[in-house]
Amino acid sequence: MSIKDVFSLSEGTEVTIRGWVYRKRELRDKIFLVIRDGSGIIQTVVDKSNQQVAGVASKLNIESSVVLTGTVRREPRAPGGSEIHVRRIDWYYVGEAFPINEDAAKADSEYLLDVRHLWIRSRRMWAVLRVRHTVFGAIHEFFRSRGYYEVQGPMFVSAAVEGGATLFPVKYFDKEGVYLTQSSQFYLEVMIYALEKVYTIAPSFRAEPSRTRRHLTEFWHAEAEEAWLQFDGLLNLLEDLITHVVDKVLEERQDELKLLNRDVKVLENVKPPFYRVSYDEAIGILQGKGLKIKWGDDIGADEERVLTLQFDKPILLHHFPEQVKAFYHRNDPAKPETTLSVDVLAPEGYGEVIGGGERIYDYEELLSKIKRFGLRPEDYDWYLDLRRFGSVPHAGFGLGIDRLVMWICGLDHIRDAVPFPRDIRRIKP
Ligand code: 4AD
Ligand code: MG
Repeated sequence: MSIKDVFSLSEGTEVTIRGWVYRKRELRDKIFLVIRDGSGIIQTVVDKSNQQVAGVASKLNIESSVVLTGTVRREPRAPGGSEIHVRRIDWYYVGEAFPINEDAAKADSEYLLDVRHLWIRSRRMWAVLRVRHTVFGAIHEFFRSRGYYEVQGPMFVSAAVEGGATLFPVKYFDKEGVYLTQSSQFYLEVMIYALEKVYTIAPSFRAEPSRTRRHLTEFWHAEAEEAWLQFDGLLNLLEDLITHVVDKVLEERQDELKLLNRDVKVLENVKPPFYRVSYDEAIGILQGKGLKIKWGDDIGADEERVLTLQFDKPILLHHFPEQVKAFYHRNDPAKPETTLSVDVLAPEGYGEVIGGGERIYDYEELLSKIKRFGLRPEDYDWYLDLRRFGSVPHAGFGLGIDRLVMWICGLDHIRDAVPFPRDIRRIKP
């Protein structure tokens, strides 16, 4: 049975559990084995008078696997208030001494990444993976409950969505100009003409040349696109999505958040409305804080950090100037030097987790912006086609799921939000 279910059983019940040795401590007359499985950890006690069982127990290493049977005892001093008194060890696999060394990890920040295939068993990774599971499930649940269809775009593509600088070229037989996708957005825009409201959860790839706390070369992207959706509706949708995901994590993952030392007060505060801050206001705030930034500059990680430390809830930062947002963003007719664009910034210094906005739906407007941005219309022929046949106003967004998990878990680095992080130096394990 699952370890987590043992704690609700009464004294004396016989149970069989399967798992791995998490800790081992040997006394004169007893051996304590703390066993973990996918659901939790429990202390077990082997009495040395049971020689056969004690013989096996003394051979077991940290991370040896074991199936054991015993009786439940209430024990206030044991974690969770119960322990198992072992009567039989039914199966075991000793293996070699587990090689992870906490001192090496302190000395070398890359060490735990080198042994990630083994470190994945740590309590920290266990907790993060379970939060991640809840986050992915909550995103699916949110979209499906609101009538969005799940769709899939291709990963091999032939043009940039988010600018040429971070495109990953792929050797694709004898073809030139093949890349890994940076975003499924354009394919979602295609699919709204069949389904109106669509979403996808898929990897996206960026050839990010620098290692930062919040960039991976491969990340998980939740994207949605909706016909007829306009800017205000989009802002409400983003608030509702983030609120739903955070609520779900608070509901299902209290133990994991505690294990990660996450202050849940900040998460409990995540309720609509979020702060709505225009780009213009943000520039004012940042200048007031002494930053050298002027209208028209991009708001990068450092500026986002300063900004989000001022707020105790996520921020909807909107109306970026045309020149800092990709060509497909629709300019605001009421203020054409700006776009109907929005980034959601997570508080506490974390910054951007979502980018989105209204899309240009008029053919001539899109064509002239593609040219104004120095791009080649022929690279976007099918994307332009969407504006030739029954085009509709629409909006959408992309959520960086790994960044969201990083913030929800309160992690210092995005690499710890992902089981197998990829960056400029690392493609192993
Ligand atoms: O802001 P971005 O570049 O927007 C797009 O890709 C749009 N086409 C999405 C859309 O509207 N459908 O990326 C969206 C989000 C960012 O806010 C960030 O959370 C995440 O994707 N992201 C990354 N996460 C980890 N590592 C990277 N290198 C990331 N680049 C973007
Ligand atoms: Mg962005």
